[in-house]
Amino acid sequence: QAAPDPAITELQPWQQYLGEGVDARPYGMPSEHEAHVVRRDVPWLTADPVSSVNFTPLHELDGIITPNGLCFERHHGGIAEIDPGAYRLMINGLVDTPLVFTLDDLKRFPRENHAYFLECAANSGMEWRGAQLNGCQFTHGMIHNVMYTGVPLRLLLEEAGIKTAGKWILPEGADASAMTRSIPLEKALDDCLVAFKMNGEALRPEQGYPVRLVVPGWEGNMWVKWLRRIEIGDQPWHHREETSKYTDLLPDGQARRFTWEMDAKSVITNPSPQAPITHGPGPTVLTGIAWSGRGTIPRVDVTLDGGATWARARMSGPSFDKSMHRFYYEFDWDGRPLLLQSRAHDSTGYVQPTKDMLREVRGENSIYHNNGIQTWAVNEQGVAENVEVS
Ligand code: MTE
Ligand code: CO
Repeated sequence: QAAPDPAITELQPWQQYLGEGVDARPYGMPSEHEAHVVRRDVPWLTADPVSSVNFTPLHELDGIITPNGLCFERHHGGIAEIDPGAYRLMINGLVDTPLVFTLDDLKRFPRENHAYFLECAANSGMEWRGAQLNGCQFTHGMIHNVMYTGVPLRLLLEEAGIKTAGKWILPEGADASAMTRSIPLEKALDDCLVAFKMNGEALRPEQGYPVRLVVPGWEGNMWVKWLRRIEIGDQPWHHREETSKYTDLLPDGQARRFTWEMDAKSVITNPSPQAPITHGPGPTVLTGIAWSGRGTIPRVDVTLDGGATWARARMSGPSFDKSMHRFYYEFDWDGRPLLLQSRAHDSTGYVQPTKDMLREVRGENSIYHNNGIQTWAVNEQGVAENVEVS
């Protein structure tokens, strides 16, 4: 007969007082027991926290939506704190009528809702030459997946009227870095959004309050935050972020440029280095996320033995175009060491490559667009570590 469990038999402290009333938390916060679930940075990665990045705690999340307060941040000139009353969006260049919109003006256009992932092109960039950072928060945490509300950019461009020579747009941020990127007009007219809500509420300052550009499936750098201006031109501008940055130097000395679309990718979030197996052998839940800039993820494969044998994971949750997908694989752990990997298949038939396959084509100079398969080694104690297998 088991000893009585005081968690059941004893009166608990929280049963012995009247709790706080409804007005105690006008804007709710997570339980104090979840205080470790936060964005984190890697101090040695950048010279200064202002032009820097922090990472989404993927190993603590489930489902497909990233809570607003946990969306990773990447800014080049710090967070701009914009007064919405003084917010303006200008459209100029090769248009029939240059226009300026206030925030209220934007809210009088028809709007749409879409869940999309945003992945920085540099996500997993530190892993190009070998396994480095111990945790999926740091290896894969430059991604978030949010339900946006916004006006299709097409409607604003139609309002201004694009001249026939207009073939490219240049969105510009209002922050001190004045972020700009050249985007082909076809993409701008296709599915880009001028968004002012994330997961139902106003954008957070970190994410571009009051307005950011949403460029579905394309590298995060193009999703200009604190959007203040869109210029229409007849050719790309070749600015800093599309020449010295966000290009990949190949072994033959040529550089890949305009690599906008994010290739299909996946990662196991549990177990992982920050989320070891603590319950010992027996029933074990493996879970992770997968995404593609080209469509949906109908299938993810999982291996427990470093790729010798693969099984199909179970997809669960909504499957939206260019949005995060959630997979699970439940297994009976025998307590022996594991080499965990996941491999995403997207709706175009593309299959996520190994890191070695990527290096064969792209060499070792790259930072951006590392979508190679991630391996976690789990030992008999359930402790997980970032490794590579060949
Ligand atoms: N927009 C402006 N105005 N300034 C910036 O520094 N950083 C870009 C992009 N848009 C940036 C910006 C980069 S590199 C990325 S990856 C995404 O915003 C990050 O978006 P997030 O901070 O919402 O995660
Ligand atoms: Co980025």
